[in-house]
Amino acid sequence: MTKIAVIAGSNRKEAESHRVGEIASQMLEEIGATADLISLRDIELPLWDESKGSKDLPEDSPWRTIWPGVSERLKAADGMVVISPEWHGMASPHLKNLLSCCTDRELAFKPGYLISVSSSIGGAYPIAELRMSGYKNNYAHWLPDHLIIRNVASFRPGAADDAAPDWLAPRMRHGLKVLCAYAEAAKPIRAEVVDLDLLRNGM
Ligand SMILES: Cc1cc2nc3c(=O)[nH]c(=O)nc-3n(C[C@H](O)[C@H](O)[C@H](O)COP(=O)(O)O)c2cc1C
Repeated sequence: MTKIAVIAGSNRKEAESHRVGEIASQMLEEIGATADLISLRDIELPLWDESKGSKDLPEDSPWRTIWPGVSERLKAADGMVVISPEWHGMASPHLKNLLSCCTDRELAFKPGYLISVSSSIGGAYPIAELRMSGYKNNYAHWLPDHLIIRNVASFRPGAADDAAPDWLAPRMRHGLKVLCAYAEAAKPIRAEVVDLDLLRNGM
């Protein structure tokens, strides 16, 4: 079965990214995939620092207590949904931090479906930013199609108060189906073709 990590990139308690992550997870289950919602709202991931790679970490270091679990969940996935809010015209720093922490092949050559959320009519900047700088050393493979959810509070598929355009939820479902197909297709590429020892960091 296709396993998809759904990464919600906001640390806000009432994060819309988390809510959209729940919607995406439900759609993935309906499609026949399994979804693991990794919400940065719920994980106290520290900012990357040089001690992350140390072999001599104190027992209470978050790189021992928090990161390994996140890393394992990402490694178990065949593909990712990556959801970012737009903050000050940028992707969330928490999400960029997570992407920076993925130095152990967690995401490498796995397809990623980008979704941005905006409470108004923004949302293009995080997509552009992630496409430009979110993949180099972690080798995440962003799909050519992405989704921008504007006026995100109105996006409530199936609910009586759903006020989003009627094409938006079907488009998301289509994006997730494409993601699952890519995730299956990429398995032999990772297993039989890609040599990450040769590549090391991206160029
Ligand atoms: C600090 C901050 C900056 C924001 N900047 C933008 C922005 O530049 N463009 C935009 O469309 N929305 C902006 N918003 C509104 C967000 O789109 C909205 O809060 C959205 O729900 C954020 O996603 P989240 O709920 O997952 O955190 C900003 C919100 C915050 C809290």
